[in-house]
Amino acid sequence: MPPPKERLPAEYHIGQDEFISDYVAPEPGQHIAMIGPNGVGKTTIGMKLLAQCVALHPETIGLALAMKPHRGPKADGRRSTGDPTVARLTRALGGRITRQWRPHWRHNLMGDPAFWTLWPKHTTEFRADVANHSAVFRDAIIDSYNEGNRWIFADEIYSLCAELKLDPELIHVWSKGRSMKCAIIGATQRPAFVPKWMYSSAKHLFLWRDPDADARKRYGEISGVDPRRVLALTDGLRKHECLYVYPEGDVWATLTPGPFIPDPRAPADAGRTTSRASSTGTP
Ligand SMILES: Nc1ncnc2c1ncn2[C@@H]1O[C@H](COP(=O)(O)OP(=O)(O)OP(=O)(O)O)[C@@H](O)[C@H]1O
Ligand SMILES: [Mg+2]
Repeated sequence: MPPPKERLPAEYHIGQDEFISDYVAPEPGQHIAMIGPNGVGKTTIGMKLLAQCVALHPETIGLALAMKPHRGPKADGRRSTGDPTVARLTRALGGRITRQWRPHWRHNLMGDPAFWTLWPKHTTEFRADVANHSAVFRDAIIDSYNEGNRWIFADEIYSLCAELKLDPELIHVWSKGRSMKCAIIGATQRPAFVPKWMYSSAKHLFLWRDPDADARKRYGEISGVDPRRVLALTDGLRKHECLYVYPEGDVWATLTPGPFIPDPRAPADAGRTTSRASSTGTP
């Protein structure tokens, strides 16, 4: 089935969730890029896409790389996580958190999750964490490339490259992953500081309004699209809206925000969860 599933009229407006479930259909090995400033919803769309890509291609495995601290500040006497969006959506979409790759053998007893969220523990030793996390993510990326049939949701491409120095591994997958059916679903809020490969190799792009001049210059590096059209369309977007572009098919669509997906662990939302989602989550 060619991606997207159906041709949308140019500059069509559609709800984010309907678009992900009914229209976009990335093939294994097709890279996806999400570019937008802080807090616009990149992680939200990325997690939903990861779950959908695996659901469309059951022979594939999804792996989200979580970089923020696994424990956030104390609130109401309890520790929150350092990335509530990742924790909530992993649970709500039927994924499961692992601290190591590959997951510990005891996970086999619990059946396969919809996807994995690789979220190494953080300690108080910053430098040791950088070395350790770099090794954990490097092994996971290279294992995914070697095995093939993987989707890697790399949510913080800038940090993976600038802090953990994983640009060679990421470029390896961007440049050759297609043959191994290993794709990167990459997101960044710092487009001026990530490898050009992220834009030039992407088959599917999700772009938010970005007033930053350096970021806007990079639209010219996206293969096969007119940067002026990207600027004109993204400038008209509201905060959580984004522009989807599939350059190969000349498909352009504006995605309007979807409804909030609640955490199955939150008591007020307990009645709205599925049995699958409630059997997964943080170990
Ligand atoms: N479509 C949406 N409609 C309304 N709120 C949204 C939408 N998408 C995300 N949000 C909310 O915005 C906040 C940030 O979302 P998210 O973490 O996905 O953004 P982000 O772009 O990944 O942020 P960051 O750049 O900090 O990583 C969350 O509280 C989330 O619930
Ligand atoms: Mg994010």
